Amino acid sequence: MFRQQVALLLGGLLLLGSCGLNAAGEEGDECMVKENFPGICRASSACEPFVDGYIKSGILSINDVPSCGLGPREEIICCPTKPCCPNDTPGTTSKARPPVSATPITRVDVPTESQERQDRPSLVACRRIRSRYGENRLTVHILDGIPVDPGVYPHMVAIAYSSFGAPAEYRCGGSLISSRFVLTAAHCVNSESNTPIFVRLGTVNIVNPAQQYEDIGLRNITIHPNYVSSSKYNDIALLELDKEVNFANNSNIFPACLHTDTRDPPLSSKLFVAGWGTMNLTNRSRSKVLLRAPLDLVPLDKCNESFAEQPSTIRALKQGVIDSLMCAADTKQQKKDACQGDSGGPLILDINVEDGLYSIVGIISSGFGCATKTPGLYTRVASFLDYIEGIVWPDNVLGTGGI
Ligand code: ARG
Repeated sequence: MFRQQVALLLGGLLLLGSCGLNAAGEEGDECMVKENFPGICRASSACEPFVDGYIKSGILSINDVPSCGLGPREEIICCPTKPCCPNDTPGTTSKARPPVSATPITRVDVPTESQERQDRPSLVACRRIRSRYGENRLTVHILDGIPVDPGVYPHMVAIAYSSFGAPAEYRCGGSLISSRFVLTAAHCVNSESNTPIFVRLGTVNIVNPAQQYEDIGLRNITIHPNYVSSSKYNDIALLELDKEVNFANNSNIFPACLHTDTRDPPLSSKLFVAGWGTMNLTNRSRSKVLLRAPLDLVPLDKCNESFAEQPSTIRALKQGVIDSLMCAADTKQQKKDACQGDSGGPLILDINVEDGLYSIVGIISSGFGCATKTPGLYTRVASFLDYIEGIVWPDNVLGTGGI
């Protein structure tokens, strides 16, 4: 019965592939099975157990499952990431993680060792992150933002600077992406006066932390080799912490997945910026608590048009808004935006709100003022995976907890 369904499934998929229902991607890429139904491109044989449950329960029909393309040995299909049915026996699918959970979760996809060896380190790390997200977890300018509850964005890092022994000032954000590295913007760390002294992790209130937080010093700062401060390209850097973070100690500290698809996510995607930057354009006051704001994706052609109207930005954007950048804005109201102090922090793509799944698609980089009609500019993370992986996971070696 099982085999028959898969054979049918493949037949259906190949047919559908030719009429356009195609998630186009490689094994391990994120894809959408259908609206609000995220998936990961996987070899059809590896996906069998999950699709089977869905088909049996009538939630999906065979024709609903898009093809990602043909792999070396078999069809790659967009495999649902959410487990299907409450009565599934263990080993067939795992239970969905409740939105508020203190119990460990079992992930849907347990790849074989040989699959892991083929995948790029960001994907392997992401799989580990997703498989452990929820363990010990309590909960699943920004201009015009809303406060973020503790534990919702456990990857958020505030970067602390201090000149001449003055009290620490948090001028940039960053994202923890492994047990030892923080991803941020190059312009946050590109000069002597801009040299951070430590990063603060695990708290939403950076001034009066209510949660158990950690301040960790830095061992190394690596700025992208092609970054020049007079331009807006390659604005990406990695901070190496002087010790590995032990995730078991604090449920509010945990790395985030990197988005690995270099294409823009769909226009309907839910994007958020998060940070402790300027909240008020008049007095430029910064936020003590972590805020986030939803933004809309702005396609590159539209974004290029907007920046072309701002001659003052042309010098820094000689080649225009190129593929390694991304744009986002509050297109309807022009009230929400990242602003000074938010740089280096993440542009977050919500993958599955219920399960708290998200990935980092961009790094807050620059803009033309804040919340103007010109969109904010972000470094597109997926365009820099080789650079990131070469530093964070050299020789594919993962750190504590396999991340
Ligand atoms: N460059 C700013 C910083 O250093 C971030 C600017 C983001 N601007 C925007 N309009 N989205 O904090």
